[in-house]
Amino acid sequence: MNILVTGGAGYIGSHTCVELLNAGYDIVVVDNLDNSCIKAIDAVKRLTGKDFKFYEYDLLDRENLEKVFAENKIDAVIHFAGLKAVGESTQIPLRYYHNNITGTLILMDLMEKYDVNNIVFSSSATVYGMPKTVPITEDFPLSTTNPYGSTKLMIEQIMTDAQKANSKLSVTLLRYFNPIGAHKSGELGEDPKGIPNNLLPYVAQVAVGKLEKVHVFGNDYPTPDGTGVRDYIHVVDLALGHLKAIEHCSDKSGVHIYNLGTGNGYSVLQIIDAFSKACGKELPYQIDPRRPGDIAECYADATKAKNELGWVAERGIAEMCEDSWRWQSTHPNGFED
Ligand code: NAD
Ligand code: UFG
Repeated sequence: MNILVTGGAGYIGSHTCVELLNAGYDIVVVDNLDNSCIKAIDAVKRLTGKDFKFYEYDLLDRENLEKVFAENKIDAVIHFAGLKAVGESTQIPLRYYHNNITGTLILMDLMEKYDVNNIVFSSSATVYGMPKTVPITEDFPLSTTNPYGSTKLMIEQIMTDAQKANSKLSVTLLRYFNPIGAHKSGELGEDPKGIPNNLLPYVAQVAVGKLEKVHVFGNDYPTPDGTGVRDYIHVVDLALGHLKAIEHCSDKSGVHIYNLGTGNGYSVLQIIDAFSKACGKELPYQIDPRRPGDIAECYADATKAKNELGWVAERGIAEMCEDSWRWQSTHPNGFED
């Protein structure tokens, strides 16, 4: 089976490429390297000992993207490519809508033209907006609080409508919770540009001495220690969820929706503590005001993925932090090192 991976040079995409290749799939990768580095592609090839075609193309460039479909027989698409920074999306919303939505429309149009009928899409727990309770099941009401989240919700709707019009189409919407961690080898990991927005890469950069201290956004939430609670999932477990989705859904037309999370919530202070243990030093932090738009608690009920896909996240929080630390400590400047 030959899988087109869009955004395959990125954090989750590159880890998924490793698992796809290790499982014997053939892949073709398209990425414009807007938020990634060609060295991630080199690392995927090195780690797996396998070669594949990489196209440095933008999904918005229809002419080039069509060459990928014309030159390769594609059986399924895993669509990671997109802009993902929540804060930035409020500053440049039009770029987010254009990149994420127009890019998806062009991709799906070409899939139709070349009779490719399987797509797995990187959605997000952000589509649950401000959930009233936790854990979150797939049938919770959907809403968004920022343009990034709106692109995810709109793309879910677009794909659902496209499926209604084409009964051959299999659409799998994977709603990720909070991916962290890195490949065991320490050769592949998250490499955010500039100062990280997300907790884990921020903590990792404090641990390696690039940032002074962790800023904890609020300790007055209605949670056990007052700090925000999230469902952190190892990026390799997440990657393996895509393989299960391809295995179970690609021959079943329809729209298939799954939460990919562990079902466990950890607070910001618990994460700082777990990372301190992984790196062997106390990490300085200070309590700051809440970050606008943040919710108190967000964690998955991942029973549907377990029952239908046979997928369960297996790696715990200690392993997630150890693997992140291995990558961060050997690559303080990401792929530049
Ligand atoms: P990432 O930025 O590391 O990877 C996305 C990749 O897409 C990058 O390599 C980027 O260069 C590429 N890209 C962006 N726009 C493109 C375009 N127009 N044409 C070609 N390539 C393009 O992000 P990630 O963390 O690996 O996330 C992958 C997907 O998962 C994204 O769609 C993201 O929204 C979604 N997601 C991520 C998280 C998270 O916390 N990391 C959570 C939920 C969902
Ligand atoms: N936090 C801090 N300090 C920081 C960064 C974050 O205290 O420097 C806190 C936040 O307030 C929150 C928790 O750490 O309580 C996690 O924050 P992240 O920014 O790491 O993650 P979010 O849950 O806010 O959002 C992430 C992705 C979204 C995605 C969402 C659900 O950034 O794109 O998970 O999947 F939609």
